[in-house]
Amino acid sequence: MKLKAIQKRFQAELCTLYSEEEINNFFFTLTEAYYNVTRLKLALDTTIIVEQEPILESLELLKQEKPIQYIMGETEFFGLIFKVNEDVLIPRPETEELVDWILKCHSEQSEESQQLKILDIGTGSGCIAISLAKNLHNAKVYALDISEDALKVAKHNAKLNDVEVEFIADDILSPYNAEFVSASQKFDVIVSNPPYVRVQEKELMKPNVLENEPHLALFVKDENPLQFYKAICDFSKENLKETGALFFEINEYLGDDMVQLLKVNGFKNIELRQDIFRKDRMLKGIF
Ligand SMILES: C[S@@+](CC[C@H](N)C(=O)[O-])C[C@H]1O[C@@H](n2cnc3c(N)ncnc32)[C@H](O)[C@@H]1O
Repeated sequence: MKLKAIQKRFQAELCTLYSEEEINNFFFTLTEAYYNVTRLKLALDTTIIVEQEPILESLELLKQEKPIQYIMGETEFFGLIFKVNEDVLIPRPETEELVDWILKCHSEQSEESQQLKILDIGTGSGCIAISLAKNLHNAKVYALDISEDALKVAKHNAKLNDVEVEFIADDILSPYNAEFVSASQKFDVIVSNPPYVRVQEKELMKPNVLENEPHLALFVKDENPLQFYKAICDFSKENLKETGALFFEINEYLGDDMVQLLKVNGFKNIELRQDIFRKDRMLKGIF
């Protein structure tokens, strides 16, 4: 079938769900992956003919609002490729900003002779832990998640990106496996992007997120939206080195509450940052 005709079908069948630009981005992501045909190549030769199977199957999935990253089975984060499936949250650009902030704060320290110890809580695909391990020399990175299925994906991603990360299966709300932390092994940095979407915010979410991404990774109870942050603060007070840093990605609506939480837990030099869309999104505190 002519690729140009398939492109027309994409626009006709997806136009009620996505913008024209989004549809073209999906289309060319797929044509590059399946047929090695770029936007430019098709512009220069509009007669290209391809096997229709893989791309029309993907079109059906896009019509069901399945995220393109799950269709492709991978995504890019911080310049690295990560495998993703429905067991893990698709890494978001705002999380790249958090990684960037940590690197800016700790790159120098990681060049020093003493090893920098980092823990990522709720690692999912491993995107935060693996990007830090890749970019911080001399760091020992640990990553924890309650989901064994997510940890399988994260372990695969560590291999794919050629980094060593120690993965731990545990529930941060009642950690039992925490013997990996001993007094001599306290962390320089603890980072977390925990579940933070309140059930009441469901109606603001797009169906492609709601119906495909793991609810275990997304939602917290309306009556206790800071549940994970409180548990991680408690854990961090026990397990951060003196002057160690705690970094969080946060719910854009709960910035003030989060600053307060860090204050009452005795953290100092608290800094709330906005993402590129000017939403309160990241928080840092020093213990
Ligand atoms: C918002 S996702 C973040 C995933 C990844 N760090 C990222 O930034 O894309 C939250 C992660 O926390 C994990 N999680 C949920 N409840 C947990 C618990 N009680 N203990 C540990 N991890 C948990 C989920 O499985 C999920 O992978």
